[in-house]
Amino acid sequence: MKRFAFATVSTLAVAAGSSAVAEPQAEVLHWWTSGGEAKSVAVLQEEFASNGGTWTDMPVAGGGGDAAMTALRARVLAGNAPTAVQLKGPAIQEWYEEGVLADISNVAEAEGWAEVLPASIAGHMKCEGTWCAAPVNVHRIDWIWANADVLAANGIEMPKTWDEFNAAAEKLQAAGVIPLAHGGQAWQDATVFEAVVMGIGGPEFYQKALVDLDPEALTSDTMVQVFDQMRTLRGYVDENFSGRDWNLATAMVMNGEAAFQIMGDWAKGEFLAAGKKPGEDFLCASTPGDGYLYNVDSFAMFDVDGDDKRAGQELLAKLIVAPNFQEVFNLNKGSIPARTDVALDKFDICAQISAEDMGSTSANGSLLPSYAHGMALRGSQAGAITDVVTAHFNSDISSQDAVQQLADAVANSY
Ligand code: BGC
Repeated sequence: MKRFAFATVSTLAVAAGSSAVAEPQAEVLHWWTSGGEAKSVAVLQEEFASNGGTWTDMPVAGGGGDAAMTALRARVLAGNAPTAVQLKGPAIQEWYEEGVLADISNVAEAEGWAEVLPASIAGHMKCEGTWCAAPVNVHRIDWIWANADVLAANGIEMPKTWDEFNAAAEKLQAAGVIPLAHGGQAWQDATVFEAVVMGIGGPEFYQKALVDLDPEALTSDTMVQVFDQMRTLRGYVDENFSGRDWNLATAMVMNGEAAFQIMGDWAKGEFLAAGKKPGEDFLCASTPGDGYLYNVDSFAMFDVDGDDKRAGQELLAKLIVAPNFQEVFNLNKGSIPARTDVALDKFDICAQISAEDMGSTSANGSLLPSYAHGMALRGSQAGAITDVVTAHFNSDISSQDAVQQLADAVANSY
């Protein structure tokens, strides 16, 4: 009887395996855990489910994704990679070189990605000519967010230069308001730092220093001025800043405890999720200076066994780049669509500014990859820079010493 039952089940399994279409499965590793982020990723989960997919969520909390990347490495080393992973910039190519990424060119070609993505974004999604990642959005890094009432009450306009920013901060401090909401985590220090590098040095300097890693730029007087401004900014954060998550810093601006935050536009996702209105409750402006620092979120698919998982990867890749998802997700996330053919009518003024500035900076060569968010450099090099930036921010070392340490750290990171 037992034998018979066994034989029946196994015959059924074979029959099902050969005739049925695999049901899409995906275990998705991401670090979207704040209010605005969770609301955004839910859009993808819902679309995946309504197209027959089964989603296993693997969220790893920690802004900027450092903890998620550590979790990913452990899974890959254990021979148990997740199906789909939030991955971006040169890390995509680094994982490809390790031979663990799936080729999603069949989806990209069927969906015509080459026709709807700007070449600069498409370039990040390719590995030796094949498509190895699907782009979700374009986040801008160099933003200042402000509490509209706090600025009005103190007679302050959004600053257009770093001197204006410092003057506003002094005034706010004198009035008992925390000028700058900041979370003392290395990636947040790096986020502010790169905005200051571009703002004080200009886009060409940013390119030389943080993309080309030119030793002269790294030790220049301009870089000394950048560290001086970082030291000045350190004076504008409250004493409890250490270790604070970025979304708690955003909440300080929301509730009027602090006036400004320098952060990528996922902060806008947080304001929106809390029901705040741009232009009324909060204000956005690019940080002082020219240029645009971009950060493209994307998903890479890992080489996994099983028709159901492969079907899940294909479905996810297709949905991620499809126009509906690009619109709805980005309305929640604070970013703008990666596709060029999604109308922006439903997007707010901050997103409109982002899209317009992305176009103009792309045309004049000042559209630049964010080093702090893994778009410009390999991990070891970015890490070397961030270590110095954060050590400087949390100590009283001089700007002169910081630039020397920066050049040394970069030289040793190759
Ligand atoms: C990611 C964003 C995310 C932010 C904070 C950035 O590196 O690109 O999608 O919201 O980190 O976690």
